Amino acid sequence: MEIWIVESKQELSIISAKFVAHTVRQKPNAVLGLATGSTPLGMYKELIQLHQEHSLDFSRVTTFNLDEYVGLSSNHPQSYYSYMYNHFFQHVNILSENIHIPRGDAPDPEWECKMYEVAITEEGQIDLQILGIGSNGHIGFNEPGSSPESVTRVVHLAESTIKANARFFTSIELVPCQSITMGMKTILINAKRILLLASGEEKAEAVKRMILGNLTPQLPASFLRTHPNVTVILDIEAAKQLRDVNKIPLSIVYM
Ligand code: GLP
Repeated sequence: MEIWIVESKQELSIISAKFVAHTVRQKPNAVLGLATGSTPLGMYKELIQLHQEHSLDFSRVTTFNLDEYVGLSSNHPQSYYSYMYNHFFQHVNILSENIHIPRGDAPDPEWECKMYEVAITEEGQIDLQILGIGSNGHIGFNEPGSSPESVTRVVHLAESTIKANARFFTSIELVPCQSITMGMKTILINAKRILLLASGEEKAEAVKRMILGNLTPQLPASFLRTHPNVTVILDIEAAKQLRDVNKIPLSIVYM
């Protein structure tokens, strides 16, 4: 696991976008695993700019999103489909048939999960998987308790996640309590390279436990340490609890 610490969220956005751009330039038909949440918003903005001003081409790129709320249709304003469309897809030249997001309103969510897992496996590999982290250490919607063997499935959201995500809804009662998420195994097995982004002090504890704590389902992000190719980009705030980290053999780059 390589840790990069940057000055600001803006820098985090620029560097993560460069990562994605590099992947796409090296391999124009790259498969990207994409994340939602507030953390990667700046990265998507940068990518749009790279597309518009530096002809970064997404026409052969395939994407798989990590997760979607159960019960929300793709055109629901708070669905992750709407998030991706509004903040990224509509601004670049990606083909709609190359976009994959679990259907939150699928009539049989369990079947939807199975088919999503099959679609990812059939793709062969995800060249670059973008991840955020929840303040409880979740990735995607793999909440505490998630096994490293878990695959795409329907999960119940943790109380803390519902509270954290209520800011995107008009009231907390409207936050769905279930979602479809790629599993831990889905991510760990299929991603060739992983880029995890964390910004803000509210992530500092989870970041510290991810890097220095035990490998435990209680902090699903800790299992990323079992993957051979993970880069973590943190802003200063998210890295706040890593003060003693110089005593530990970690590859840390201060940007
Ligand atoms: C959400 C998403 C995750 C995301 C996380 C952090 O619940 N399912 O994929 O990484 O929460 O979100 P944010 O970046 O807004 O802090």
